[in-house]
Amino acid sequence: MKNLLVTLFACATLSYTHAAENKTIRISTDNTDLVLQVGDNGRLYQTYLGEKLLHEQDLNNFSWSIHAGADGSVSRRGWEVYSGSGNEDYFEPVIAITHNDGNPSTILYYVSSSSKAVDGGTETVINLRDDKYPVDVTLHYVAYPKENVIKTWSEIIHQEKKPVILSTYASTMLYFNNSAYYLTEFSSDWAKEAQMSSQQLQFGKKVIDTKLGSRAAMHTHPFFEVGLDQPVSEDQGSVLMGTLGWTGNFRFTFEVDNVGNLRVIPGINPYASNYELKPNEVFTTPEFIFTLSNDGAGKGSRNLHEWARNYSLKDGKGSRLTLLNNWENTGFNFNQEILAELMKEAKHLGVDMFLLDDGWFANKYPRKDDHAGLGDWDVNHNKLPGGIPALVKAAKDADVKFGIWIEPEMVNPKSELFEKHPDWVIMLPNRDTYYYRNQLVLDLSNPKVQDYVYGVVENIMKENPEVAFFKWDCNSPITNIYSPYLKNKQGQLYIDHVRGIYNVLKRVKKNYPDVPMMLCSGGGARCDYEALKYFTEFWCSDNTDPVERIYIQWGFSQFFPAKAMDAHVTSWNKATSVKFRTDVASMCKLGFDIGLKELTADELTYCQTAVANWKRLQNAIMDGDQYRLVSPYEGNHMALNYVSKDTNKAVLFAYDIHPRFQEKLIAVKLQGLDPNKQYKVEEINLMPSVTSKLGADGKVFSGDYLMKVGLNVFGLATTQSHVIEFTAQ
Ligand code: DGJ
Repeated sequence: MKNLLVTLFACATLSYTHAAENKTIRISTDNTDLVLQVGDNGRLYQTYLGEKLLHEQDLNNFSWSIHAGADGSVSRRGWEVYSGSGNEDYFEPVIAITHNDGNPSTILYYVSSSSKAVDGGTETVINLRDDKYPVDVTLHYVAYPKENVIKTWSEIIHQEKKPVILSTYASTMLYFNNSAYYLTEFSSDWAKEAQMSSQQLQFGKKVIDTKLGSRAAMHTHPFFEVGLDQPVSEDQGSVLMGTLGWTGNFRFTFEVDNVGNLRVIPGINPYASNYELKPNEVFTTPEFIFTLSNDGAGKGSRNLHEWARNYSLKDGKGSRLTLLNNWENTGFNFNQEILAELMKEAKHLGVDMFLLDDGWFANKYPRKDDHAGLGDWDVNHNKLPGGIPALVKAAKDADVKFGIWIEPEMVNPKSELFEKHPDWVIMLPNRDTYYYRNQLVLDLSNPKVQDYVYGVVENIMKENPEVAFFKWDCNSPITNIYSPYLKNKQGQLYIDHVRGIYNVLKRVKKNYPDVPMMLCSGGGARCDYEALKYFTEFWCSDNTDPVERIYIQWGFSQFFPAKAMDAHVTSWNKATSVKFRTDVASMCKLGFDIGLKELTADELTYCQTAVANWKRLQNAIMDGDQYRLVSPYEGNHMALNYVSKDTNKAVLFAYDIHPRFQEKLIAVKLQGLDPNKQYKVEEINLMPSVTSKLGADGKVFSGDYLMKVGLNVFGLATTQSHVIEFTAQ
């Protein structure tokens, strides 16, 4: 790409002529058209983004000048696809460059475009060039027709004599011309992930951003929804659902301009990040992935789930391992014998794997709590004299797989790594150091540090090729921002740090393509589709209270398929039954993090059955379509169902959270079934000796009936749940 851009620029002159006036570029899925057009001035404008147009000839009806100012003057304000600073538009630009001569303007003209088939869709590539400076921008759009998803990113390159300063470098800009805009955002904190709230956007800017560096999505997640003309609703109305593939600081700017148009600008947050771009270096922005649904957020989510499984998520089409984790059960207090026992428990429970969490490493400063040892990835010989090989063997003896936790991007100051390499750590040289969870972030902009971090995985795998899974944690934001490696280029740190992580993850994926990995960040503070190219799943939250999880999982399900979302049964909120906790976790990728000795015989039998049921129904839960039926945000209950692709199997999860006294209960109408098939209804996940009290249990109904009349599955007791299986006859 770099060479192509260089050649392209060499072939052109700076006295660019507007050869391709009014050229129209159509980027289409089966449901959406994004139409771009070259204006009379040679610049590229968005003329349409909306429901797919039926007739090709209608594209000729667009004219860039239709977006004249409110006073009727023919204005070029707004609608420019890659709007640069210093142009006549008075709103937020997508790109801002300070050139070698100090000039802060960038105005880009259309040069050429092409399209080609790529996996799952069509990629359109558009070349733009500044007419006064040797700066090229290449816009990429990949349209996935079936899933109705478009992903877009940009590349910036220049041939000025010295580096230029990039101060704004968003991925794209989308424009909307609607009567009103309603933003749904997903705010977060530790144990409070994916909390949805909505507001109407008014004139001016609403910015959602993060400056945390690593653990970057702790306070807000990199996705949003915008209801066009009306608030976002589940099953009807137009909604834009967008997400940025970037595991660092991101920024979404929503700007309603003077004539009531909305501009959406997704990108890296340029906060403290003036980027010195060297001549011929390519600056690639993160991918912005979006779908425009005309049938509400439910359809948009299904499109994104399908897209993720088909084209984005690591091993998106593969199966997932159920597991028993030890974090909530033992914390740091374990030894080889305790772990060997837990492996047997994992087998007894019926899950596929035992996952060893934090606390297995470091000798000089043993990892007995979170104050020491991070960075020293040698097995702690007191706790685990046989090392990882003995654990792998114990797992084999117990007939389960073995997975292991690492947090390789971090260091405790109390560690041998810190003693040896203080210069590998992000830390201000001349100020008091402040800590988050007693740790500091390694400087991943430094290639030597990248090698070290990669080596954490490689060393484990070389010694233990049978390790079957990694849980990769990241518990601290960047504190004391300063890179000893970047010296006087500190403006690059937030960006080069994230790129350094990707370099490591690329190597891990290349060398261990079949090892599934869980993305974890003190709960769900990393949840973006770039990281998920390297991870099969992510840990949604340390909050495993099932009541809270209902909301957290509802929130994440807007953008991620169930197979990417890890949910474990734990002892959080013991006031709820083990059944309720397990039924909530069963909506996602099921795991356990509880000592089996805590369970009664009946509870254990129930859990074993629930695991077997979940495995049997993976086809629907992991790989089927999800229909969110009753929102926990709108009442005291929640329900959703999954349907397998062949519509022969479905599963309904229904929860009573805190029903009101004698509240009116409404039947739950399923979705996605074949109306003409007959389905046998069977309540599953029942405690032993309990029989279903649902009137429908054991009966057969048509899909049509189940979707139009529905089933009475809600009750008036607090924290009750029902899991119902539907089998086409
Ligand atoms: C935070 C994670 O979210 C937990 O699941 C656990 O792995 C701890 N870190 C371990 O320190």
